[in-house]
Amino acid sequence: MAIGSETRDSSLPASAGDPMMPRFLRIRRAIRENHDTITLELDDSQAAPRFAPGQFNMLYLFGAGEAAISISGSPARPQTLVHTIRGVGAVTAPLLRARRGEMLGVRGPYGSAWPVEEAAATGCDLLLLAGGIGLAPLRPVIYEVLRRRRDFGRLIVLYGARTPSDLLYRKEIVQWRSHPGTTVKLIVDRAAAGWSGRVGVLPDLLGAVEFDPAETIAMACGPEVMMRFAHRELVRRGVAEQRIYLSLERNMKCAIGFCGHCQFGGAFICKDGPVFTADRVEPLLRIREL
Ligand SMILES: Cc1cc2nc3c(=O)[nH]c(=O)nc-3n(C[C@H](O)[C@H](O)[C@H](O)COP(=O)(O)OP(=O)(O)OC[C@H]3O[C@@H](n4cnc5c(N)ncnc54)[C@H](O)[C@@H]3O)c2cc1C
Ligand code: FES
Repeated sequence: MAIGSETRDSSLPASAGDPMMPRFLRIRRAIRENHDTITLELDDSQAAPRFAPGQFNMLYLFGAGEAAISISGSPARPQTLVHTIRGVGAVTAPLLRARRGEMLGVRGPYGSAWPVEEAAATGCDLLLLAGGIGLAPLRPVIYEVLRRRRDFGRLIVLYGARTPSDLLYRKEIVQWRSHPGTTVKLIVDRAAAGWSGRVGVLPDLLGAVEFDPAETIAMACGPEVMMRFAHRELVRRGVAEQRIYLSLERNMKCAIGFCGHCQFGGAFICKDGPVFTADRVEPLLRIREL
C-alpha cells in the first residue's frame, strides 16, 4: 500500500454477530501506571481477533457504560488484549478500580491503523510523537518495530507528559532504549525533584533530533494542540503531509459508523479514522470546535 493512502484494513474483524454486542473478557492483570492511569490485560484466548497498531476497542463496564480505548499491547499477542486507561469520566474513572478476575465487555477492534506495514515494506525510519495517554496507541507500533527490527530503519520516540510521575511504561522505556537504532527522548511540562531531563513541550524535542524527512514516516498522538504544533514543525523540517499520520479522538457511541457522534468534517473518526494522514485532517484541526 502506498504511503499516504488509507490505512484501514477491512479484513480485520469486529465482534462476531451483532456488532453492538460485546464479548466478555476477564481481567488477567491490572497494572497501576500512575495516579490516574491503569493498564488492564484481558484474557482473550478464546477469540483473540487480530488487530493492527492504532486500532481501538469499545470497553464496557457494568453499571457505567462504554468508552473507546486504544489497544496498547502487542499485535503478535492478541490473546492478551491490553488497554491503558486514563480515568477522566463516567466509564474510565471507575475503571481505575478494576481488579484481576473482574469481567469487562469488549467490542472491536475498530478503526484505521498506523502505517506500520507500509513502513516495513520500504524499511524507512519512524518518528513517533506521543503526548500523555497518546503513547498507548503508539505502543503497539513500538512492539512491532522491536519484534521485526530488521524490517525498519531508525525508530525515534519523542514522548511528553505533564510531570515525571505522569510518564507511562517507565520500565519498558528503559528496555526500548537498549535496542540498536532506537532513540527515546522524554520531556515534561513541569519538573519535579530528581528529574534531570528536559522541561518544555513536545515539539521542543523535535529540534533535538536529526532525521531525513524523505526517509521518515511520522506518527503523532496526543492533545490536539500538541499535534497542531508537531505537524507544523514536521512540515517546516521537510516531511511531506502524506508521511505525517495523526490519530484523532472524538466522542464515540456506536463505533461502527451508524450514529454520527464522531463526525469530523466529512469523516467519521470511528470508521475512517482514528488514524489519518495530515493532509486530510490538518485543515480541520486548525478549527478548535467543529
Ligand atoms: C479512538 C479513540 C481511542 C482512545 N483511546 C484511549 C486510550 O487508549 N486511553 C484512554 O484513557 N482514553 C482513550 N480515549 C479517550 C476516551 O474514549 C475518552 O476519554 C472517553 O470520553 C472516556 O469516557 P468516560 O465515559 O470515562 O468519560 P466522559 O464521562 O465521557 O468524560 C469525557 C470528558 O469529559 C470530561 N468530564 C467528564 N465529566 C465531567 C464533568 N462532570 N464536568 C466537566 N467535565 C467532565 C472529562 O474530563 C473528560 O475529558 C480514546 C478515544 C478515542 C476516540
Ligand atoms: S461513533 Fe457512531 S458514527 Fe462513529
